Amino acid sequence: MKQIQLVRPQLADLWFRRDCMSDPQTMAYNAGYDVSYDGYHYETGCIDFSEEKWGEWYETKLKNPNFFYAYIQDVDTGDYVGYVNFNKDKTTGKATMGIVIKAEFQGKGYMRPAMQKLILEAEKLGVAALTDTVPESRDHALKVFYSLGFLKVGEFTGKKFNKPEVVAEIEKEL
Ligand SMILES: CC(C)(COP(=O)(O)OP(=O)(O)OC[C@H]1O[C@@H](n2cnc3c(N)ncnc32)[C@H](O)[C@@H]1OP(=O)(O)O)[C@@H](O)C(=O)NCCC(=O)NCCS
Repeated sequence: MKQIQLVRPQLADLWFRRDCMSDPQTMAYNAGYDVSYDGYHYETGCIDFSEEKWGEWYETKLKNPNFFYAYIQDVDTGDYVGYVNFNKDKTTGKATMGIVIKAEFQGKGYMRPAMQKLILEAEKLGVAALTDTVPESRDHALKVFYSLGFLKVGEFTGKKFNKPEVVAEIEKEL
C-alpha cells in the first residue's frame, strides 16, 4: 500500500491547490454543473484560485475549527498527490467530505490510504458521520467507499452537461 501522510498546508503551500483546481484533467469530475459560484468554469470544471485569493481562503477556511483540509503527501517521494477535506456541521455533528487525487497520480492506489487517514482525523475531531455525494458512474470510487464502511443512504438525479446523472448519497457513522 502507498505510504501517505496528511499535511495541513500553510499559506505559501497553496500553489498545489491552485494547480489542482486549474488542471482540466483533474477537474473533469466537476465540469458541467449548473452552479454559478465565483471562478467556476462550466466547460472544464476548473475553479480560479489565483494567489490573491489565498489569504482570505486561509483565514476563513483553514483557520475554521470545523473545517479540515489537508494535502495527501506520498511519504516516499515527497510529492503532494491530492487533497482531502471535511466540513463539520455544528448542529448535527455530521461532516460533508471530499477527496481529489491530481490526475497524474490517479489510478495508483492513493484513495484508500488517504481515506483511512481522513476517517481517523474525523474521529479525532468528534465528527458523528462523514457524508458525500458520488455519481453512480464513479463505481471504482464507490467500491472503495463501501469497503471502508460507507453505506448508501439515498440517491438523487442531478444534471451534468444537461444530461441526467444519478448520484449516490453515502454516509459512514463514526
Ligand atoms: C475518485 C478518486 C479519488 C480515486 O482516487 P485514485 O487514487 O485515482 O484511486 P485508486 O488508484 O486508489 O483506485 C481506487 C480503486 O479503484 C480501482 N481502480 C482504479 N482505477 C480504476 C479503473 N480505471 N477502473 C476500475 N477500477 C479502478 C483500484 O483498484 C482501487 O481499488 P482498491 O483500493 O480496492 O484496489 C480520483 O479518481 C479522483 O480524485 N477523482 C476526481 C474527484 C472525485 O471523484 N472524488 C471522489 C468522489 S466525489
